[in-house]
Amino acid sequence: MNVLLIGSGGREHALAYALVKSPLLTKLYAAPGNPGIAKLAEIAALKVTDHAAVIEFCKSNTVSLVVVGPEAPLVAGLVDDLTAAGIKAFGPTKFAAQLEGSKGFTKDICAKFNIPTAAYERFKDEKKALTYLRKHGAPIVIKADGLAAGKGVTVAMSLPEAEAAVKDIFAGRFGEGECVIEEFMEGEEASFFALSDGMNVLPLATAQDHKRVGDGDSGPNTGGMGAYSPAPCMTDALCTEVLERIIKPTVKALASKGHPYKGVLYAGLILTNEGPKLIEYNARFGDPETQVLMPRLRDDLLTLLLASVDGTLDKISVRWKPETALTVVLCAKGYPGEVIKGSHINGLSQDFGKDVEVFHAGTAIDGEFIVANGGRVLNVTALGATPKEAQQNAYAAVDKIDWPEGFCRRDIGWRAVD
Ligand code: AMP
Ligand code: GLY
Repeated sequence: MNVLLIGSGGREHALAYALVKSPLLTKLYAAPGNPGIAKLAEIAALKVTDHAAVIEFCKSNTVSLVVVGPEAPLVAGLVDDLTAAGIKAFGPTKFAAQLEGSKGFTKDICAKFNIPTAAYERFKDEKKALTYLRKHGAPIVIKADGLAAGKGVTVAMSLPEAEAAVKDIFAGRFGEGECVIEEFMEGEEASFFALSDGMNVLPLATAQDHKRVGDGDSGPNTGGMGAYSPAPCMTDALCTEVLERIIKPTVKALASKGHPYKGVLYAGLILTNEGPKLIEYNARFGDPETQVLMPRLRDDLLTLLLASVDGTLDKISVRWKPETALTVVLCAKGYPGEVIKGSHINGLSQDFGKDVEVFHAGTAIDGEFIVANGGRVLNVTALGATPKEAQQNAYAAVDKIDWPEGFCRRDIGWRAVD
C-alpha cells in the first residue's frame, strides 16, 4: 500500500526508517519531509494545513494510510477530515487530541476517572488565580491551557515567580487567558508509550529524555536534547501499574464520551513516593523519543499503526530489542534561542556502522551540501548492549560529524549510565 507521512522532524525521519522496512509498503510519500526523509520517501509538494489538498493528493496517488507525526495537524482535525473522506489516518481526532491540546480537558478526565495526577484547579480569572496562589504558596506549577510548544509551564519555586507566570498567561502570552495551577510533584520523570484503537491498548515501550539545554540538566528548557529507551526506572511492575491505573482508564474515558482515542498515547510520568503520576499526555509519538523507539522495534510498524486505525490491537503483539537505544541531538549554536541557519554539515554520507542511525530534523539542502535549517538539526542514535555502550557508540558517531557551528550535550543518558 501507499502511505503518506506528515511531518518534517527527527520523529518523522525515524518513523520513515521503520515504515520503509514494512513488507506491506509499496510507496512512501512525505510532506513536508526533510533531506533525511527524502532518501526514503518521495516528498509531496503539499501544504499540510490545506486538508482538501491532502485529501486530493491521497486520492490521486492511491494513498491507503496517512500517518500524522506532529500535534498541530491532529489538533487542527486532519484525521477527522481524512476519515470523513474515506481515507484511513493514524492518530486521534480533533476531539481526542485535546488530551494534548488542553491541559484542563485532561485534568478533568483524571479527576472524574480517578487517574493519579497532581491536584489542580482551572482558572479563567486572574484575580481568583492569584488568590489561590497566595493561599497555597510555592513550590507550585502554573500551566497555560492550550498548546504552547513546551513553553507554557512554569515550575515556580517562589511566590513572586508563580505570580509573574499567572500574570503572563492572563496578559495573553499564550493566546486565550486560561490557566491550570497544580500541586508540585517530586520524583524521577519517564515517558510511557502505548497504542490505542479506541478500545484496546497495546503498551509499546518506555523512554527518558533530557529537556534542559546544558550538561547536568542545566539552562533553559528545549524540545529535547537527547533520549534513551528503555527507561531503567520503569520496572515491569511500574509499567503494569501505569497501564492499569493511567492509560486504560484514559482510553475508557474517551470512549465513554463517544470519542474513542485512536493513535499513540504518550504519557509523561513522574515517579512519586505515592506511585507513578501523570504529568501530561501527548497525542503523538515523542521527539526525540521516537528516534530511540524505532531502532528497538522488532515488529512491523505499519502493521501496528493499521491495527490502531482498524480496531484490531487485541489481535497483535509487539517485540523490542533488549538493547538500549540512545540519541544525541545536535543543535545549531544559539538554540533554544536565535540560531543562524545555513551552516554546512560535513561527514553525513559516511558509513557510521550497523547500529547507528543519523536522523535529520532541521536540515536543508544547499547545492551539494547539507546545511542547518533550524534549532534541533540532527539526532545521532546508537544501540548498545548497555546504556553505557549505547552512549559510547552514539558519541563516537557524533564525533565523526564535522559541523563547527553545531553543539550537543555530552552527558545524554547519565542517569541510566549511573
Ligand atoms: P509539561 O509541559 O506538562 O510536560 O511540563 C514540563 C515539565 O514541567 C515537566 O517535564 C516537568 O519537569 C515539569 N512539571 C510539570 N508539571 C509538574 C508538577 N505538577 N510538578 C512538578 N513538575 C512538573
Ligand atoms: N520530547 C518531548 C515531546 O515530544 O513532546
